[in-house]
Amino acid sequence: MSFLGSLFSKREKSVLGVDIGSSSLKVVQLRKEHGRAVLETYGELALGPYGGSEVGQATNLSAEQITETLKDLLREAKVTTKSCAVSIPFARSLLTLVDLPYRKDPIEQKTIIELEARKYIPVPVSEVQLDWFIVPEDEPSEKNIQKETVQVLIIAVHNDELKLLQNVIASAGLQASFYEIEIFSTIRAVVKEPVKTVMVLDVGASSTKTYVVERGVVAFSHSISAGSQDITRAIAVSRNLSIASAEALKKKRGLESDDESGSPELVFARIFSEARRVLIQYETAHKKPVTSIILTGGGGVTKELGTYAKKLFSVDVQVADPFVKAEAPAFMRPILEGIGPEFAVAVGLALRKLDEV
Ligand SMILES: Nc1ncnc2c1ncn2[C@@H]1O[C@H](COP(=O)(O)OP(=O)(O)OP(=O)(O)O)[C@@H](O)[C@H]1O
Ligand SMILES: [Mg+2]
Repeated sequence: MSFLGSLFSKREKSVLGVDIGSSSLKVVQLRKEHGRAVLETYGELALGPYGGSEVGQATNLSAEQITETLKDLLREAKVTTKSCAVSIPFARSLLTLVDLPYRKDPIEQKTIIELEARKYIPVPVSEVQLDWFIVPEDEPSEKNIQKETVQVLIIAVHNDELKLLQNVIASAGLQASFYEIEIFSTIRAVVKEPVKTVMVLDVGASSTKTYVVERGVVAFSHSISAGSQDITRAIAVSRNLSIASAEALKKKRGLESDDESGSPELVFARIFSEARRVLIQYETAHKKPVTSIILTGGGGVTKELGTYAKKLFSVDVQVADPFVKAEAPAFMRPILEGIGPEFAVAVGLALRKLDEV
């Protein structure tokens, strides 16, 4: 997984995206060359074995254990830079979309938003890092004339969560210039046509994150508390297999299974029916269709999942391919296509970080 590192001689500054997921750590190292992102190396290490559970299962490790895993990963992937950006789990952040009074003057607008935002945070403002941005309008010119409100996405992350991440990053010998909620990294990495309304489904190990993206901006987000680890567990129970064997079978067969009990399909049916509710709710409230669904996260790689999703949602379904945003040797393409969804967050972080270089 790390030999890409040796294919390139080092000329310009390299950057690293670090995704601390519930089941594994992922890193992607990019370098800018002639204005293009070039893939230098990438790697993944499952957290399970560091915390007494299996590969593919979510863990709840201490900062020290995560640091150890990260150090091992940096070594295995032959990462050569300290300069990184880090993801914040969606589950540890708060995103609220609110309508607030509109002001023409940007400074007044900012003051109103920052005062009002406090009302939507369930803990004292001193305990969180607060951020926000205005959701762009549909047809700004016509509507602006009588505009009374603006839609604002308020984002809060608890200080404790940030401190934990900062501690891990510093102990692993890295330097982060920003921490970003994983949704934003994913969107940067997987949304190809920002003009369309799309739904991103990040099928992780412990949960499936659902985002509706409007003109490149999150317009709705929801977390479904089931993910790919539940598929493994269902296979293990229905076939009387160990978690490790069930995990291997899941990766080999995905939804191709001829198994009559259809356990992987049952779990996906549950996840997708909740995602479909989100989609319909959004379409009804906003009176516009979601034109495609992008599958991402490790679970997004599941064989035949795209076909199954297409049948269920009856809209265009694509499996994310974040590595297309970076140059890599042609012979690597099929491999990168196969693993891309798992690395979407890390790619998105590295892409933003490259802008700083
Ligand atoms: N080829 C594959 N087929 C099916 N499932 C896979 C495949 N590769 C990985 N997975 C599953 O994807 C899950 C890991 O996905 P991912 O790395 O996106 O999760 P995570 O980021 O650790 O978790 P979360 O996003 O929930 O915090 C694991 O449960 C793993 O078994
Ligand atoms: Mg993840």
